[in-house]
Formats: sequence, structure tokens, C-alpha cells
Amino acid sequence: MTRTLLVVHHTPSPLTRELLEAVLAGARDPEITGVDVRSVPALGATVPDVLDADGFLFGTPANFGYMSGALKHFFDTVYYPCLDAVAGKPYGAWIHGNNDTVGAARGVETIASGWGLEKVFGTLHLADGGKAARERCYELGGTVSAGLSD
Ligand SMILES: Cc1cc2nc3c(=O)[nH]c(=O)nc-3n(C[C@H](O)[C@H](O)[C@H](O)COP(=O)(O)O)c2cc1C
Repeated sequence: MTRTLLVVHHTPSPLTRELLEAVLAGARDPEITGVDVRSVPALGATVPDVLDADGFLFGTPANFGYMSGALKHFFDTVYYPCLDAVAGKPYGAWIHGNNDTVGAARGVETIASGWGLEKVFGTLHLADGGKAARERCYELGGTVSAGLSD
């Protein structure tokens, strides 16, 4: 049975695009089978997207010391309608920024905890791009996806 990994992200720049692509590449590693990886921009993600998912990845820049308004809007929109449907499902997250990524990570983790999601990979705090950052993103995507694999 195919399982669905929903990747909800706000990707406003080439650098954040590079990080997203690395997360997706890890999640779609050819050795991982039976996982459908769905990448949806935060402003376009809906309640049915969440209800259809078996696991989650959340990605955002740090904006004013918090998650982006786009990802916040996603959670504002879907949190209560999905509250009884997602407990126990795995998730991971990545944050990009130079300062106060902690506030953004805390925001995502608090909401995920309220949902009862299980954090299966430590939230990434990424100050820039480059090979090392891409490798960490690949590992994040690969780990969460492999956990859903058949
Ligand atoms: C409105 C706004 C607020 C921001 N606030 C922060 C912040 O608090 N901390 C931080 O590290 N970066 C902040 N940034 C920078 C973004 O995190 C950064 O633009 C994003 O991670 C993409 O990186 P890039 O612009 O280098 O591609 C902010 C950007 C915007 C547009």
C-alpha cells in the first residue's frame, strides 16, 4: 500500500528552493519504495491534503523570528479540522535563516506537538545553502520518507 508524505513549504528564494529540492530528493531516494511524496506550497495546502497524508515535512524561512506567514496561514487553516486525524504520524521540519530560527522551530514544533505528531528527525536550522546544508536536507527527507516505506 502506497503511503503519502506531504511536504508543506514556503519557498520564496533560489536558496530556499535549493534546500527544498534536497529534501525532496532525499524523500524520493530510489531505495525508498511505497511512498508518494507530495510537495505543496504552504499557501496552497488544504485540509484534504493533510487528511490524505501519512507523514509530514514542514519547511520555512525564519521571518521576524517566527515561521513565515505562509506556513502559519497553513496551520491556521488546517489545524482544527485535522486535529483528530493526525495524532501519531511522523514529521520533520527545516528552517532557514541567520538569526532566531529557534523561534520559528519552536512555533512549528508546538503546533506539531498539539496535533500529536511524532518528531522523527531533529529540526534543521540552516544558515545558508551549499553542499553540507543540502546533505542535511537530503537526510531529513530520506529519514522521514524511509519511515513510511513498505
Ligand atoms: C519579512 C521578513 C522577515 C525576516 N526575518 C528574519 C529573521 O527574523 N531571522 C532571519 O534569520 N532571517 C529573516 N529573514 C530572512 C529570511 O529568513 C530569508 O530571506 C529566507 O530564509 C531566504 O533566504 P535568502 O533570502 O538568503 O534566500 C526575513 C525575511 C523577510 C522577508
